[in-house]
Amino acid sequence: MPNFVRVASVTEIPPGQARAYIVGDREVAVFNVEGAYHAIENGCPHQGGPLAEGRLDGPIVTCPWHAWCFDVTDGKMTMGFTSVDAFDVQVEGSTISVSADPRT
Ligand code: FES
Repeated sequence: MPNFVRVASVTEIPPGQARAYIVGDREVAVFNVEGAYHAIENGCPHQGGPLAEGRLDGPIVTCPWHAWCFDVTDGKMTMGFTSVDAFDVQVEGSTISVSADPRT
């Protein structure tokens, strides 16, 4: 049974933007892609850049440090050779919750 942790109200993450939150022992970036919320590990696997501060173009976020790109819906790097963990997101009313455990 997934352990969901409340992180935000929907008003805190406007469309096309993201915020980072601590969920359990992980730092997770939550993105709003045209009203759908997606969560991935915040730290870029290259050198730890904060993905929540990257530019979001549709479901693709560009790392603000050296421009590696990731699909926020599944955490996969667009060039394909690495990925970040992705986490399930629940929205109930105006509350966004994120699974404390990464999707497998
Ligand atoms: S730290 Fe993200 S591309 Fe280098």
